[in-house]
Amino acid sequence: MRRPLVAGNWKMHGTRASVAELTKGLRQQAVPAGVDVAVFPVLLHVADVLDGVSGGVVMVGAQNCAVEPEQGALTGEVAATQLRDAGCKLVLVGHSERRSLLQESDEVVVRKFAAAQSAGLIPVLCVGETLAQREAGETLAVVGRQLASVIESLGVDVFRQAVVAYEPVWAIGTGLTASPEQAQQVHAAIRAQLAAASADVADGVRILYGGSVKAANAAELFGMPDIDGGLVGGASLNADEFGAICRAAGN
Ligand code: PGA
Repeated sequence: MRRPLVAGNWKMHGTRASVAELTKGLRQQAVPAGVDVAVFPVLLHVADVLDGVSGGVVMVGAQNCAVEPEQGALTGEVAATQLRDAGCKLVLVGHSERRSLLQESDEVVVRKFAAAQSAGLIPVLCVGETLAQREAGETLAVVGRQLASVIESLGVDVFRQAVVAYEPVWAIGTGLTASPEQAQQVHAAIRAQLAAASADVADGVRILYGGSVKAANAAELFGMPDIDGGLVGGASLNADEFGAICRAAGN
């Protein structure tokens, strides 16, 4: 049985004051014992959030890390080892906003994935197709290629200590959600691709769905056999809404 994970991607949102409020609200949420919960604040707020959630069950992750795992001369970047030292447990790699707006290539994503793992962080590998790609019938090919770049460079076993997040780009922040069946089809394909290399890796890896997840649609998404939780953007900025999503993952 895979343990569900609900991850809140706070993106570039918040001030110290609003983040303190959100963190306080998060602590007040009843989270089912069988569910893992993580939040990903902007780096500047990571230490405050770690303080705010200390003693609780919520893990803290970063939204990005440098391609180099160790500290060094790389102005403006943060190394995975530094994230780990600060108390982060996970890191997002390959989020579509970074792939598209910051031109992160599969090769860069692979390096960040490797850097994260070498520092003892769990990478959350984000994959997903654009609307044009979906309409052209390329969804499985695009997602398959993004996943293959990691498998081919690093081997399938790296997914023993990683999470995959399927996030159709057209569903991110748009209010459009993939239907549970659409999402399940892609999740099943991701798992099958991993299974072709290792059945037990495929069986153990958590595959999250992301893209306009909210309390109202979480239960039916999480009810699909290959959906093991969610990567939640907008709705994770409201503690009660996020708490409700976490509870939906426990049912
Ligand atoms: P959204 O974002 O829930 O606001 O659609 C999801 C994400 O980008 O991780």
